[in-house]
Amino acid sequence: MRLRTSILSLLAAAATGTSAAGVTGSAEGFAKGVTGGGSATPVYPSTTAELVSYLGDSSARVIILTKTFDFTGTEGTTTATGCAPWGTGSSCQLAINQNNWCTNYAPDAPSASVSYDNAGVLGITVKSNKSLVGEGSSGVIKGKGLRIVSGATNIIIQNIAITDLNPKYVWGGDAITIDNSDLVWIDHVTTARIGRQHLVLGSNASNRVSVTNNYFNGVTSYSASCNTYHYWGIYLTGSNDMVTLKGNYIYHMAGRSPKVGGNTLLHAVNNYWYDFNGHAFEIDSGGYVLAEGNVFQNVPTVLEGSVGGQLFTSPDASTNAVCSTYLGHTCQVNGFGSSGTFSQADTGFLVNFSGKNIASASAYTSAQSSVPSNAGQGKL
Ligand SMILES: *[C@@H]1O[C@H](CO)[C@@H](O)[C@H](O)[C@H]1NC(C)=O
Ligand SMILES: *[C@@H]1O[C@H](CO)[C@@H](O)[C@H](O)[C@H]1NC(C)=O
Ligand SMILES: *[C@@H]1O[C@H](CO)[C@@H](O)[C@H](O)[C@H]1NC(C)=O
Repeated sequence: MRLRTSILSLLAAAATGTSAAGVTGSAEGFAKGVTGGGSATPVYPSTTAELVSYLGDSSARVIILTKTFDFTGTEGTTTATGCAPWGTGSSCQLAINQNNWCTNYAPDAPSASVSYDNAGVLGITVKSNKSLVGEGSSGVIKGKGLRIVSGATNIIIQNIAITDLNPKYVWGGDAITIDNSDLVWIDHVTTARIGRQHLVLGSNASNRVSVTNNYFNGVTSYSASCNTYHYWGIYLTGSNDMVTLKGNYIYHMAGRSPKVGGNTLLHAVNNYWYDFNGHAFEIDSGGYVLAEGNVFQNVPTVLEGSVGGQLFTSPDASTNAVCSTYLGHTCQVNGFGSSGTFSQADTGFLVNFSGKNIASASAYTSAQSSVPSNAGQGKL
């Protein structure tokens, strides 16, 4: 089985000439050129400890996941006093008093007993030059996320699911953290039932990042709005970040999907936002967003409040022609079904795209037909 897989990977690599071992295809957008573990001989961890060791050592590695790695219980549990900022109903999230968050930010909230799994709170450290790839639809990390931090560079995460990080609790864990890194590609990953952020970049520079074909699934039994819609989606506030967000399925969220600030250049292209209760974009000072060829279906508030940074929503063909100079293509209009408005055409920041690797863009109709069935783990 393993031999067969590696032969197939070699054949695929020979056919395209670009794939790293174990990895399917190659990154487009800002992280183009990322090689991860390159041609290292694949390793197949069998225990959670072995997975942690492969991800955290200083060797270039291609790490293939063929099963679920369940971290639940591996670091014990904590019972403590937290708070209930959004009510005490059985479908409301509670908050862990992490760094005195309850005391500082929710002083009027009633206190509440919290009991959480310690493994979920902090993700697995991922060092430089790693490819982490799931085989078929078998690669799952349950109860712990991934942390690409502290100068880690050249990392590919492809075709895995990250699930069940203390979903009842805010501060219960982030699925994917990127902070102080470069050249990171997150592709065909599914995230589900997460306590805090599905994806978080900040606050140091994460430089070149491509986030493609992922399924951010916001369905949860516990939410800040007590109604199954997860609020903490995608948070992009690094100090010098260029993020390509392409082909992602961003589903059943209530907010911050994404929140953009710090000093972040975001190219959001051909994504599909579906079934929101609340907002998709929040753009603070330092957030520079170009959105094209996306689909918004049943997203009542596409943009929360006013734009603190700059925003180009590719409103119409004549306005979109300006993109050619900076991105090398005419921008594509977005598609809207039962969704709020999203219309602004700031052009001052488009020069930031010049000379960078830019993802291609298709018409929103093509994202509409392909993204829901192609995004996430098991859809390579
Ligand atoms: C990653 O791989 C590159 C190319 O082989 C090498 O130059 C670099 O030192 C590696 N980085 C780390 C942190 O090991
Ligand atoms: C971010 O930068 C600060 C200040 O340089 C540093 O203390 C911190 O460790 C960095 N965080 C990461 C995750 O690298
Ligand atoms: C955009 O370009 C300006 C001017 O070169 C630069 O200072 C800023 O850091 C860039 N921002 C991003 C997010 O690339």
